[in-house]
Amino acid sequence: MSKRPEWLDAAVFYEIYPQSFKDTDGDGIGNINGMTEKLSYIRELGCNAIWINPCFESPFGDAGYDVSDYCRIAPRYGTNDDMVRLFEEAHKQGIHILLDLVPGHTSWDHPWFKESMKAARNEYTDRYVWTDSVWEEPEGFSTIRGLSERDGSCIVNFFTHQPALNYGFYRPEKPWQQAMDAPGPQATIEALKDIMRFWLSKGCDGFRVDMAGSLVKNDEDQKGTIALWQNIRAFLDEEYPEAAMVSEWGEPDKSLAGGFHMDFLLHFGPSHYNDLFRCEKPFFAGNGDASEFVAKYIENYERSERKGLICIPSGNHDMDRLARHIKGDNRRLAFAFLLSMPGAPYIYYGDEIGMNYVEGLASVEGGYGRTGSRSPMQWDTSENAGFSSAPSDRLYIPIDPSEDRPDAASQTEDEASLRSEVKRLIAVRQSHKALNNLGDIEFILNGAKEKPLAYTRSFDGEKIFVIINPADEKYEMTSAEGLSDIIYKFGECSVTDTGCVIGPHSAAFIRQGADRGSEASE
Ligand code: BGC
Repeated sequence: MSKRPEWLDAAVFYEIYPQSFKDTDGDGIGNINGMTEKLSYIRELGCNAIWINPCFESPFGDAGYDVSDYCRIAPRYGTNDDMVRLFEEAHKQGIHILLDLVPGHTSWDHPWFKESMKAARNEYTDRYVWTDSVWEEPEGFSTIRGLSERDGSCIVNFFTHQPALNYGFYRPEKPWQQAMDAPGPQATIEALKDIMRFWLSKGCDGFRVDMAGSLVKNDEDQKGTIALWQNIRAFLDEEYPEAAMVSEWGEPDKSLAGGFHMDFLLHFGPSHYNDLFRCEKPFFAGNGDASEFVAKYIENYERSERKGLICIPSGNHDMDRLARHIKGDNRRLAFAFLLSMPGAPYIYYGDEIGMNYVEGLASVEGGYGRTGSRSPMQWDTSENAGFSSAPSDRLYIPIDPSEDRPDAASQTEDEASLRSEVKRLIAVRQSHKALNNLGDIEFILNGAKEKPLAYTRSFDGEKIFVIINPADEKYEMTSAEGLSDIIYKFGECSVTDTGCVIGPHSAAFIRQGADRGSEASE
């Protein structure tokens, strides 16, 4: 069993999309020094960990998920030294940093790919997945064809400009499909380890891993991909045992078996995550149904041996802003949920102040519909919302034009703001181990048909009952024994002999049982 970095157990993450966070050099795009400048904002909110989207050299056809040099910070964001300084300053403030590792594909501008396109054999010929004839278009894959003198089609992993790195096939069926232990795939793994070594040796605390389940091909049960990650974990245990690994996989039983510490709940696929926040009738808008989400969550939770390591994000750079579908006080209830679930919570920059999805924007850097969730952070009420001193027509993405757009400075001052609510919730979570990342969860009400969501979190004798009611009607809970003091409340809630009465649009965390349990320290 690999070592688990202890800080992960109480981690509350803040996700930074570097382009849009804070520009300190006036070129209209965020940078590393901007993140360093704003560390105290993140710490003051209560977050103690950060995930930064890719900030490496790239032609930015997919906002940086198309890397052309893994070991160089994109000049528009600063230098490698700026990144090292960010690590150091973050550590001084008790903040850990995960970089985004994109192991499945590179940009087609990457020097490896350019070499691999050449007809003459070289060191990179097998770095990507190529067929042995340009006329072959393998079933089930998209390819890059006709751009090279090499006679072959190259499989892509996501957009057309993102050729798939070669980690081999679990069941090779054709001559061009290499086995996982063939020299080409082995060399790719070693190159990946070198990239990880490079950043870990500079002070990064680990990685969020992009499309972690996508690496080995013809691997239906993902046994090959799991084995590959076990290999990587063994290397980390040997050289960087403290390195934290969080996967974008969506199947915690598999990713945990591969040695990841935590896995993300995905907003696509079978998770039913969108039932809560982003569908026609989301549960947190007050008229939806959370039951299918709960059923799926429990299934994954059981499969991953109740380790509670499924991370639920408030949003991210790939999905609609939370505020697009959840309005008013119900946003607070969404955070009461996110900040009382097992696994590390992830707050997407600006969600803590209720930033809007900016409608009608032209796509920027392969954002397409995602662009509206990537607009600049609104720091204050000054020019460009305090994001940048560049002329407004030179900003990476236009600022939300709405007159009542929220901003961080005003909300930090205001005790009644959404941000202050989020800050209170993080503080409550961090002072009760039962609410932390490893605490157990038992669902009591599954949020079906406009009923509340209710669950008990427990750890080491401490038990906390959570009830969240986004609906318009109050609800009387009669089967929750032993409730005592309310440790967090928004809206109305009163404890009764048999349970509690929760008001409309309200949430409460209530101690349960005689044992007061352990107060967590940060
Ligand atoms: C990232 C996306 C990206 C894709 C391809 C994802 O899951 O979060 O933003 O476009 O991987 O790398």
